[in-house]
Amino acid sequence: PTPTLHAENGVLTLEGLALPELAEQFGTPSYIYSKAALTAAFESWQQALAGRRALVCYAVKANSNLGILSVFARLGAGFDIVSGGELARVLAAGGHAGKVVFSGVGKTRDEMRQALKAGIRCFNVESAAELERLDAVAGELGVLAPVALRVNPDVDPKTHPYISTGLKGNKFGVAFADAQALYRRAAALPNLRISGIACHIGSQLLDPAPVAEAAQKVAGLVDRLADDGITLDHIDLGGGLGIRYRDEAPPVVADYLAPLLKVFEGRNEELYFEPGRSLVGNAGLLLTRIEYLKPGETKNFVIVDAAMNDLARPALYDAWHEVVEVVAPSTESQVYDVVGPICESGDFLARERRLAVAEGDLLAILSAGAYGMTMSSNYNTRPRAAEIIVDGGQAHLVRARETVAALFADEKPLS
Ligand code: LLP
Repeated sequence: PTPTLHAENGVLTLEGLALPELAEQFGTPSYIYSKAALTAAFESWQQALAGRRALVCYAVKANSNLGILSVFARLGAGFDIVSGGELARVLAAGGHAGKVVFSGVGKTRDEMRQALKAGIRCFNVESAAELERLDAVAGELGVLAPVALRVNPDVDPKTHPYISTGLKGNKFGVAFADAQALYRRAAALPNLRISGIACHIGSQLLDPAPVAEAAQKVAGLVDRLADDGITLDHIDLGGGLGIRYRDEAPPVVADYLAPLLKVFEGRNEELYFEPGRSLVGNAGLLLTRIEYLKPGETKNFVIVDAAMNDLARPALYDAWHEVVEVVAPSTESQVYDVVGPICESGDFLARERRLAVAEGDLLAILSAGAYGMTMSSNYNTRPRAAEIIVDGGQAHLVRARETVAALFADEKPLS
């Protein structure tokens, strides 16, 4: 799934750098990303949108490492954030506040102040209460807050229920039927500037049809708002484009966008997108070393030095990540569960995989660039993995492996 991952003389390399050497240099477990793959993914969005006024706002939650953010900032990306912390990261990485959109149902007053002072592009407001609060906070600061309402178009994105967000029964966005009244309310509030409309229906989407359906609904609403004298300068269509983990066949970006662009043909609004996974997912892998082989009566286990605290997706969503031997196997293969050292039965990275491995061997867990490191934890007092970006023959450590001392530096025993 990673375009820059190749086997050379039986050894896996990323942008020409041998993974065993990276393991030697940086240790394991480590997340390794390819700058060329990041760049190619971003450029496929840019190319598909060429000739159309559009802004690609990378969804920071997918991978918020400053190294990754700096790559996208330099390519001209905007950013979709969901916290004040993510805003701080974007600015620290050289991103422009003027290209930041702020999503999320629970923005605090402090986060609103921080974002207003920084001068972000737009708040994607998700409730009536948030609209009132934002108006008050902007008023205190004496500024106008740019707003879009995130509407819930109630279409079924046909993805995992945990990551579908556009259906009626979930916490995101404002009900489609209420949107027009809320826009009128926004127009009456003194410290808001109505800028756009936003929707996001879910993640790991493999079919562009539901997004196009949502877009159609949104376009209709934009026209009804215009009848009310409320004009918008942009339409934010969210993120969600899926990637291939196993045998999925997601559309290429251009094919995903084609039906959407058709909906907006001849319209003047700038289009925003918030892709996360499709920009980073297949640009990264998790490199891990085998500590033990443990044959069992009904199952064989490969116990590795990465665990669910490093990559939570398998435990959380039963997500499938491809696992490959880093050095071409010479031993016989067997079927194994690949598990970590954490004391939970849910601590698996992969199940029932045929692998030819021995203690001390390296494994690469693929498609781990999105929602890998950002969802990691310190469960079991495990320091988080190092992160490395390879770029044309050079390896850059963009996050040092955490130390145990740092993990409890802010704690103290009760005296
Ligand atoms: N915009 C909004 C408002 C979102 O909620 C999300 C993702 C995105 C953009 C980016 O979506 P993407 O292009 O990455 O699909 N942890 C889950 C995925 C959660 C997605 C949450 N929202 C996973 O590991 O699969």
